[in-house]
Amino acid sequence: MQNLQEIQQKAHRDIAASADLEAVAAVRLAYLGRKGLLAMTQQDLGSLSPEERKTAGSAFNEVKSAIERAIEHRERELQDAKWESVRETERIDTTQPYFPTHAAGHLHPNTLVQRDLEEVAKHMGFMVIDGPELDTDYYTFESLNIPKTHPARDSQDTFYIEGHPDWCMRSHVSNMQVRLMQQFGAPLRAAYPGRVFRNEATDASHEHTFYQFEALVVDKGLTIGHLVGVIKSLLRGLFRKDIEVRLRPGYFPFVEPGFEMDMSCLLCMGRGCAVCKKSGWVELLGCGLVHPHVLKEAGLDPRVWSGIAFGMGLTRLVMMRYGIEDIRLLMRGDENFLKQF
Ligand code: FA5
Repeated sequence: MQNLQEIQQKAHRDIAASADLEAVAAVRLAYLGRKGLLAMTQQDLGSLSPEERKTAGSAFNEVKSAIERAIEHRERELQDAKWESVRETERIDTTQPYFPTHAAGHLHPNTLVQRDLEEVAKHMGFMVIDGPELDTDYYTFESLNIPKTHPARDSQDTFYIEGHPDWCMRSHVSNMQVRLMQQFGAPLRAAYPGRVFRNEATDASHEHTFYQFEALVVDKGLTIGHLVGVIKSLLRGLFRKDIEVRLRPGYFPFVEPGFEMDMSCLLCMGRGCAVCKKSGWVELLGCGLVHPHVLKEAGLDPRVWSGIAFGMGLTRLVMMRYGIEDIRLLMRGDENFLKQF
């Protein structure tokens, strides 16, 4: 009996001295565990006479449940203290003004460059207009003097709509040329950015879905000089410096003469890299004087009116401006990439 009393007193001291839940758990194990003090004492009860065992047994049970209660009580106390401190340290002050640590969303680099080009074009007197991505074969090809046999119409390049061979996803924004001339007549200055689609293999500078920015001027007496001047002004407006370009002969059925223009690669400054395929030049656009057939198709007299047109790879300009070495990064939807802009 005396032993039991001592155990109880010592247990209360140990419980009171437990500063955290781990300490209480250790006390629980030391007293109530399978090999704890009480279990050992219980074994001693076996050596008592039946009479003694009865009184000692009930005293034992009382001591045991007193210790259990004391432990549970201490556990609750410590648990409460813990939540109390969580409440203090993690309190949300709803009166604090909210300063977001990152923006919830922002414009895609394609959009940033497109908008800048639109601003420059507007200052140069162009109207900026949107066009359909899903369009007829007529506006995408036929009206542009592209004969049925031209390789650009090959199903390898163009996505046609199943069961509707007269409809396709436009492969260039030139689908706006005749439409604009029909709608607005001459003279005309229009710029039309947009998304285009091509069924082609991708690499560091080719996507199946990319953006173009095209411009069309219809007026009297236009020349290649006007064409190059307009393009260079637009590039200067976008990059805020003169960009070195070169003009090469190029064939597009809707212009005559036709050219392709390269710009000096801004990723390697002309030294040669993967994007410019070590040439120092990046193919930027196709351009030329609007073909008389196209003017006629739009209802304009080619003896009176002339036109200049150029279609830039907008996505290529995005790569040049931001130093992006692989065009495929732009459409991948990778947040780590996109949040840089
Ligand atoms: C055209 O699309 C003509 N419509 C351009 C044109 C307009 C010519 C007006 C004459 C008058 P082209 O297929 O070359 O041409 O594409 C134009 C530009 O888009 C290219 O110079 C290039 O910068 C870009 N481009 C072409 N294919 C891809 C591609 N797969 N991925 C990214 N950019 C591309």
